[in-house]
Amino acid sequence: MNTVERAEAAEHALSQELDRLVIMKSTIYTSGERDPRVAVPRPPSEGKRFLMGHDPRLPRMPEKPTLFDFFKYRFGPANHMLQSARLAQKNGVDEKIVLACLLHDIGIAGFIRGDHGYWAAQLVEPYVDEEVSWAIRYHQALRFFPDESVGYRYPELYTKLFGADYTPEPYIHEAYRFARAHKWYMTSRLVTVNDLYAFEPGVEVELEEFTDVVGRHFKQPKEGLGLDASPSSHMWRTIMWPTRYL
Ligand SMILES: [Fe+2]
Ligand SMILES: [Fe+2]
Repeated sequence: MNTVERAEAAEHALSQELDRLVIMKSTIYTSGERDPRVAVPRPPSEGKRFLMGHDPRLPRMPEKPTLFDFFKYRFGPANHMLQSARLAQKNGVDEKIVLACLLHDIGIAGFIRGDHGYWAAQLVEPYVDEEVSWAIRYHQALRFFPDESVGYRYPELYTKLFGADYTPEPYIHEAYRFARAHKWYMTSRLVTVNDLYAFEPGVEVELEEFTDVVGRHFKQPKEGLGLDASPSSHMWRTIMWPTRYL
């Protein structure tokens, strides 16, 4: 088979696989576009099965997925996090902070936007030092508050995105006050410091640049991320198989 024939065969196999399956969307995908108080209509199945595993439209994950596999197959372009981590490294911060920078926005990259710092922290919590997940969790709040002592200003981008009159919810103010007084404040603050200047178009950073840092500070489960029994493995599984019926 030549390349075109191979591509056609693959496409045919995919459409056949899809033909045999019914995919039903979770409430969170459609809430807003539709009223979440109304039941999600179940698509007609006509004798077909509902999807309960791998979604054939997505790249298949390896049997024992690693953190890097999630970056490669499930997260959108991770350049922002990679640039952040490289900048942190260049600034000579502790490796734990480099790791926190590398992971700080995986909530957005692969899961859910709202409260992304909290989601990312929870995802990685079982696999990293407590200080790393703490820093990721509180970058969510600290991003909104300047700290002149380290040259961190309120991001201009936020004024553009949310308007000059935007003020975060009270729970974010509360989280800021708590984090400000915490012994790990500066760890989280350094995530925001390296975050702010990390949007450089055209600068490509390879994931492999951080193989050693991840190897030293991320406890990769031997069963594969999501297939272990940690308090967050279900979240990794949802990222791996986002459209399962149950
Ligand atoms: Fe963020
Ligand atoms: Fe970020």
